[in-house]
Amino acid sequence: MIKVRSLNKSFGKKQVLSGINIDVYDGETLVIIGPSGTGKSVLLKNIVGLVTPDCGSIIIDDTEIVKAKKDVINEVQKKMGYVFQEAALFDSLTIEENVAFGLRTLTKLDESEIKQRVVQCLSMVGLENVEKLKPSDLSGGMKKRVGLARAIAYQPKYIFYDEPTTGLDPIMTDVISDLIINLRQRLKITSIVVTHDMRSAYKVADRIMMLYKTGVIFSGTPAETENTDNEIVKQFISGSSKGPIETDRTFSQME
Ligand SMILES: Nc1ncnc2c1ncn2[C@@H]1O[C@H](COP(=O)(O)OP(=O)(O)OP(=O)(O)O)[C@@H](O)[C@H]1O
Ligand SMILES: [Mg+2]
Repeated sequence: MIKVRSLNKSFGKKQVLSGINIDVYDGETLVIIGPSGTGKSVLLKNIVGLVTPDCGSIIIDDTEIVKAKKDVINEVQKKMGYVFQEAALFDSLTIEENVAFGLRTLTKLDESEIKQRVVQCLSMVGLENVEKLKPSDLSGGMKKRVGLARAIAYQPKYIFYDEPTTGLDPIMTDVISDLIINLRQRLKITSIVVTHDMRSAYKVADRIMMLYKTGVIFSGTPAETENTDNEIVKQFISGSSKGPIETDRTFSQME
């Protein structure tokens, strides 16, 4: 289980997250939504140990990772797969080497098992015969899916997906949503999914949480989210430019 308590993070004078409390139960898929720039990616990076919070606590399976020693964090990180918002592939490595990266460093699989697992994971995200190509040979959506294949390859206990379907066509988006559900059902993977795609959010979520400004302003089931009276959540999920959410009005002022 993941427990985040009273987490604060600022960059310089800019407070990005304040007083964040989150529980993610084993086997659960928590979807996080919220306007651009509210700190969704920063929150995931805190949980996977890529960013250190200013204060607060992050407990993964009873291990406190904030201020933990490097080897303790490394052990916890072995349980985690992270799908970066930008595919973040190694440009000089082939697709096969990219997907196999965690398998080579974190598991004891032999070369033929690794090759087999790579092909299997690429096929789960709808990619075939791309093993020998380099990231620069692929489209944006294909790179995104390679990033997903890499995260699921070593079957971590936790997967953190940062906008896994952004830039994918509607059908591939649904394939990825199905994959997230499938991983939860078959491998009991616990996950946090950050997404702007409400259709995918409703489909994969056990619970939906919304970040606004620096904090959590809503948490509920997909049905509770759809039927909420919270004006901010209502505006956000309907995708309307009119409502209480503060946006950059530069363009509307120009009309
Ligand atoms: N390493 C960093 N240094 C300074 N500021 C940062 C850093 N990382 C993030 N920020 C700032 O933190 C804020 C939140 O960024 P974050 O990437 O978490 O937003 P987000 O909610 O994921 O947005 P989006 O939906 O566009 O991906 C932004 O104002 C961003 O500029
Ligand atoms: Mg982000």
